Amino acid sequence: MKFILPARGSRTPSTGAPRANAAAAWSSAALPSLTPTLKDVSFSVTQGQTLAILGATGSGKTTLVDAVTRMLDVSGGTVLVDGVDVRLWDLQALRRRIGMATQRVQLYSDTVSSNIAYSAPDDISEDDVALYARLAAADFICSLPEGFDTIIGEQGTGLSGGQKQRIALARALAKQPEILILDDTTSAVDLETEKQLRKNLQELPYPCTKIIVAQRISAVRSADQILVLQDGRIAQRGTHEQLAACEGYYRDICLLQGVQGMPDAPAANAPAKEVR
Ligand SMILES: Nc1ncnc2c1ncn2[C@@H]1O[C@H](COP(=O)(O)OP(=O)(O)OP(=O)(O)O)[C@@H](O)[C@H]1O
Ligand SMILES: [Mg+2]
Repeated sequence: MKFILPARGSRTPSTGAPRANAAAAWSSAALPSLTPTLKDVSFSVTQGQTLAILGATGSGKTTLVDAVTRMLDVSGGTVLVDGVDVRLWDLQALRRRIGMATQRVQLYSDTVSSNIAYSAPDDISEDDVALYARLAAADFICSLPEGFDTIIGEQGTGLSGGQKQRIALARALAKQPEILILDDTTSAVDLETEKQLRKNLQELPYPCTKIIVAQRISAVRSADQILVLQDGRIAQRGTHEQLAACEGYYRDICLLQGVQGMPDAPAANAPAKEVR
């Protein structure tokens, strides 16, 4: 297996100064025997690109992104970031480069503002917190009793699933990471909000390579590269246009989700139709 992610460079997030080539090269041979989930998974992403990962539940999407942050470690292979095996990286330094909003939203018993600024550079301003909340489509914060000063519990009591997801997303964005990983982060938001989020993610005020795990075609179709995982393997890869035009899981999901503007069925089907 080999994963290559560009995400390297000088990091000057709070000043907004441009960062040099952010590039992480990630190559992995196998996940631990504890989770022999991914098999022969190889990909590379260039700086600033978006990699989307789609696949049925249990296909290995979270396992894959967890390997980036070393929530899981590899065995029998290597994960390279900036050409260096992640096991040689200082774990905190590695994770500082990565912003992640996961399926398991973790909130802290603190204000909304502190929850968003939790992983951000120390000198993040209130304006920046508000900016990243806006980019995360978390406008609902303004209607909370105390706005950004509202205390939320670890369970986020009083917040909907989608609201919690957006606070977690705002936190990941406020970190101004070189690699942004969103694992099913928009599963609980409505389609209109998701559309807004997609637009915002394309206009982040800093360079960033993105890995987006999602179930909805709308969330992945503009990605530079889409991987379809099936039973831990890459069953398909390509752009939306390429995948939508050939038989397989991706096209099936497109049809199931009523995606508009689908290309005609692949020519390869033509003989079969004629036979009927
Ligand atoms: N820590 C672990 N130890 C053993 N098996 C695991 C572990 N984590 C995940 N798995 C298994 O690996 C497989 C892939 O799980 P994973 O969470 O990566 O799937 P997923 O594609 O993210 O699914 P979903 O869409 O439901 O989030 C599953 O069969 C799961 O049971
Ligand atoms: Mg998952």
